[in-house]
Amino acid sequence: MTVFDTLSEYGVVPVIAIDDADQALPLADALIEGGLPVAEITFRTDAARDVIAQIAASRPQMIVGAGTVLTEAQADAAQAAGAKFALSPGIDGAVLAHAQRIGLPFAPGIMTPSELQLALRHDCPMVKFFPAMPAGGPNMLKNIAAPYAHTGIGFNPTGGVTLDNLPDWLALPQVRAVGGTWIATRADIAAGNWDQITRNAAEAVARI
Ligand code: 3PG
Repeated sequence: MTVFDTLSEYGVVPVIAIDDADQALPLADALIEGGLPVAEITFRTDAARDVIAQIAASRPQMIVGAGTVLTEAQADAAQAAGAKFALSPGIDGAVLAHAQRIGLPFAPGIMTPSELQLALRHDCPMVKFFPAMPAGGPNMLKNIAAPYAHTGIGFNPTGGVTLDNLPDWLALPQVRAVGGTWIATRADIAAGNWDQITRNAAEAVARI
């Protein structure tokens, strides 16, 4: 079973921007308590690497990955910190090739059939569909994915996914797991609103 298979079992991946590495473990515990031991820690903050390292070292039950991985160096840093997977909002062949060389499962972002074909050329088992709602929502993805169903490629829609539209995304057979920031917002993390994050996670799990 690949790490992307594990993500599909959960059906939702919290997308995290966290500014303070001291909050890594309380955040992980809040998600675990909500029944969602999964996180994409984005390299949008300087703390990302430390946060991944702390969670990977101290909360082995968490499936922790790296998001917004834009360079080969970030892929290396993510893997060294213990990330089990990586994603990015767009697709970059050089970064993808590097991730494959170092054995880091990588899901690039796509929004068009051409980008999807580039991901297929790199044998990606899963891609991020980003930004999912502005790009046209579930109906758009349904139509983009249709000609490629035989390839088995899976999708992780993020960008505008909410508790309310989550069932529409998961109704598409090619969608493995949705992603979104609503479960653990940067503001809730900064304020230490762990109960709220646990509730959001539990609510998302219940909806799946
Ligand atoms: C991502 O990086 O996947 C998106 O920023 C998540 O978008 P959202 O804030 O609309 O959930």
